[in-house]
Amino acid sequence: MDINHIKQISVVGSGAMGSQIAMVCALAGYDVYLQDVNEESLAKAKQSLEGHMKRRVDKGKLSAQEVDHAFSRLHFVTSLEEAVQGTDFVIEAIVEKLEAKRALFAEVDRLAPAHTIIASNSSTIISSKLADATNRPEKVCNMHFFNPALVMELVEVVQGPHTSEETAQVTMELTRKINKTPILLQKEISGFVANRILGKLMDEAIYLLENGIASAEEIDLACTKALNHPIGPFALIDLTGIDVHYDVRMQRYKETGDESARPSKIVTEKYQNGELGRKTGKGFYTYS
Ligand SMILES: NC(=O)c1ccc[n+]([C@@H]2O[C@H](COP(=O)([O-])OP(=O)(O)OC[C@H]3O[C@@H](n4cnc5c(N)ncnc54)[C@H](O)[C@@H]3O)[C@@H](O)[C@H]2O)c1
Repeated sequence: MDINHIKQISVVGSGAMGSQIAMVCALAGYDVYLQDVNEESLAKAKQSLEGHMKRRVDKGKLSAQEVDHAFSRLHFVTSLEEAVQGTDFVIEAIVEKLEAKRALFAEVDRLAPAHTIIASNSSTIISSKLADATNRPEKVCNMHFFNPALVMELVEVVQGPHTSEETAQVTMELTRKINKTPILLQKEISGFVANRILGKLMDEAIYLLENGIASAEEIDLACTKALNHPIGPFALIDLTGIDVHYDVRMQRYKETGDESARPSKIVTEKYQNGELGRKTGKGFYTYS
């Protein structure tokens, strides 16, 4: 398939990531279907995107007309069939659970046209764990965005052993078309590139906190003021969600059996107490 054949993109899962990925694609001129099984999540996604777009118009970053056009190309639906029956490219952004993703990939494979590429935005699940749930493994890859997807420029495109050169190249080109910067990982590795590097930083930050060396605020200050990071590790975990961090670590632990991959004590406590970060108003910080 040629990049110019991609007219319609479907994003499955309208949570933190899927909603913004869909908006990025609509702003780039694509016809986009954003699908979720949960109607409430879709309504929340729409409301949140309207807020983001309004702020961009107010700041003069986008014109009201550009935003109106993008919303007219963005369809919010609960039916998977409606979302993918005429699509050229699917970006999966549902909950980080292997079995849920495998079931979805099998269903998309059944409903979508034969030429359609199916990419996963998963942070940890390599696409070779999903490809064999479909009859088109050569058209399956990872396309990993960063949070918040409206702002973050990098997308990691991961070519599994089953992924064709054409699929990898079309996904790289599509990433450029939606005004992001792609990097190609020629081999699969859990966690990909950026998050593996970030993971080492997080581990050290949590080690320092759990050993009473400094508070979360002070460790964040060290990273922002000495290392020039735009955000500290604890503020970042709160932003992405402590549940996401916990699930990622559990997934890696299940994959490797390595005890050191388990979520830390403090993250587990917060997860169990429902202190999930910004989304619940409390994590390492408290939000009003
Ligand atoms: N949050 C991050 O920082 C981040 C960054 C990059 C990638 N990711 C990845 O993106 C994916 C989604 O993460 P998120 O943070 O947006 O999660 P989220 O919990 O905010 O959203 C997940 C959404 O998927 C929906 N959903 C669940 N099962 C579904 C199904 N079968 N069909 C359709 N919709 C379904 C849920 O209703 C929910 O709205 C995960 O794979 C995660 O690893 C997350």
